[in-house]
Amino acid sequence: MCGIVGYIGKEPSKILINKLKKLEYRGYDSAGIAVGSVNNIRIFKAVGEIKNLEKTVVPAKDAAFGIGHTRWATHGKPDETNAHPHLSSDRKWIVVHNGIIENYAVLKEKLSGKGYAFYSETDTEVIAKLLEYYSGKTCGDLNIIAETLAALKGSFALGIINAEKDGIYFAKNKSPLFIARNGENVMLASDIICFKGFAEEYYALPDGVFGFADKNGIKFFDSIGETDIKPCILDLDEYDDLNKYKHFMLKEIYETKSAVKNILEYYSGINIDKVFSGCDFGKIKRIKFVGCGTAYHACLLGAIAVEEKTGIECGAFVASEFRYSDPKISEDTLVVLISQSGETADTLAALEQAKVKGAYTVAIVNVEYSTLKKGAHAYLPIKAGVEIAVASTKAFSAQLVVLEIFAEMLAEKFGIKHANFEGVRKLYENFDYGNVNSYKLLADALRYNDRLFMIGRGRDYCIAQEASLKIKETSYINSDTYYAGELKHGFLALIDEQTYVIVFATQKNVLQKTLCNAEEARARGAKIILFTCFDLDQSETENFYYVIKIKEIDGGLQNVLSIVPWQIIAYYTSVSKGINPDKPRNLAKSVTVE
Ligand code: AGP
Ligand code: GLU
Repeated sequence: MCGIVGYIGKEPSKILINKLKKLEYRGYDSAGIAVGSVNNIRIFKAVGEIKNLEKTVVPAKDAAFGIGHTRWATHGKPDETNAHPHLSSDRKWIVVHNGIIENYAVLKEKLSGKGYAFYSETDTEVIAKLLEYYSGKTCGDLNIIAETLAALKGSFALGIINAEKDGIYFAKNKSPLFIARNGENVMLASDIICFKGFAEEYYALPDGVFGFADKNGIKFFDSIGETDIKPCILDLDEYDDLNKYKHFMLKEIYETKSAVKNILEYYSGINIDKVFSGCDFGKIKRIKFVGCGTAYHACLLGAIAVEEKTGIECGAFVASEFRYSDPKISEDTLVVLISQSGETADTLAALEQAKVKGAYTVAIVNVEYSTLKKGAHAYLPIKAGVEIAVASTKAFSAQLVVLEIFAEMLAEKFGIKHANFEGVRKLYENFDYGNVNSYKLLADALRYNDRLFMIGRGRDYCIAQEASLKIKETSYINSDTYYAGELKHGFLALIDEQTYVIVFATQKNVLQKTLCNAEEARARGAKIILFTCFDLDQSETENFYYVIKIKEIDGGLQNVLSIVPWQIIAYYTSVSKGINPDKPRNLAKSVTVE
């Protein structure tokens, strides 16, 4: 993960700090910048968020360029020593890095053998030392950089300064990196959101490209020589205004309804044949859904929705497992990759694998300029708008809505029925955030708990998984999820009077069975919190500790109305524990390392 930024122009420290704040969603355990002019570079570092770094930076009047980094540690604890930028021993080469150098241990050992001393635990430091090493072997900075890159295995987006030169070098492999120019000013960044207000066009660096930027322009190189990259138009949604909200997480939850509206508007006019051009549906025998974390939970529900509507065999897979499990994929397989960011390394690796094996790939993704969108054969936007809080909320709900639409589209392509998006229209018309006061009361009760169980069947089980993840990541509460029918096969042994069991019951066909499972837990002393969309008899619920009743709508989109309350409950639980729900400890929004 990590965010990197580079800037050539006046007041680089101010610009770098501002841009790093925009990239903080990518990591926020420590940060640093290197700024200055030729032979006069100063480095500032701080542990924690960018606001800590900001306090340490002393701006220099003559500074003309700089590079910066906000870190999510992969190698070495988050302290000042391990914070980027990293330096060569002669302090000539200064590096910021996003990614993982997989062969860093071998390189470190080799370089140590040649007398290089390492001060940090990071993989990144080997890059700075390698640059110094190749400086003694070959001439010209670009050759030195090319040699260094050739020695690296893994993923990297790099900003590099040679303290004796005016300008910034850069390189990219598997981690995102963009560059833009405005007159004599140049900006390098991990995300194009940094370019807002700076440039109207930008360059998206492909893998294997490196280059140099100074006030005269930007030069790109690949393994063959100098190369051209076509600029893209900067087209960004508004995003960084909290309005009346205290946190992005809450703001984003309350943007769910407008996301549903955007989806409805966008997909109502869609040309289904055009979306899936190049796919031979006559061949398709199985559909695999792949994603990570919350997006994986969307995969679970997508697989159910599509199998129900098409009768084709569907399965959901965690991307990091999919890659190494030698999945059965061939030309008869549709592989659907779901992601908010479109930059999740495990999901991108699954995409590559699916393509190599001949599958037709579909990206269901929120960030429209992402690597996942660009790499897949077909693309279905989630239309949720920018999501900043680490905990994914509106993007998940929007994924569920788009999956419903996707299922309808496939049903049409398989000749089963004409696609209609009436379910989505109904969801929009009946959209309800529910009784927030009751969610706040529940949040107050949950904050003192460190052991929750969430149970459900079928779709409810998938929603329980997502609700549990939201509670875990924003409130640090240990919460486990089980199929309701599995209680008696082991985990009843964990139940006592201190246990809360949250029972998800929003499907008529398994309602009574699920209520019986709730009774089994209650009989062992558990406090039951029933979450349902049905009006139940008082006699059926009187023994339960708490009942949350949500609105009932037909079909799979009930799941959207089911998850929103849990996002709100997770938010208030987090806030009541004094946690910043937008930036939970140890996490980052975009996971660009495997
Ligand atoms: C969601 O709340 C989590 N922060 C996380 O599980 C996330 O969904 C996962 O990392 C996948 O991200 P993506 O959707 O950007 O691929
Ligand atoms: N591997 C580098 C470090 O730990 C960069 C981390 C990253 O980009 O996630 O410092």
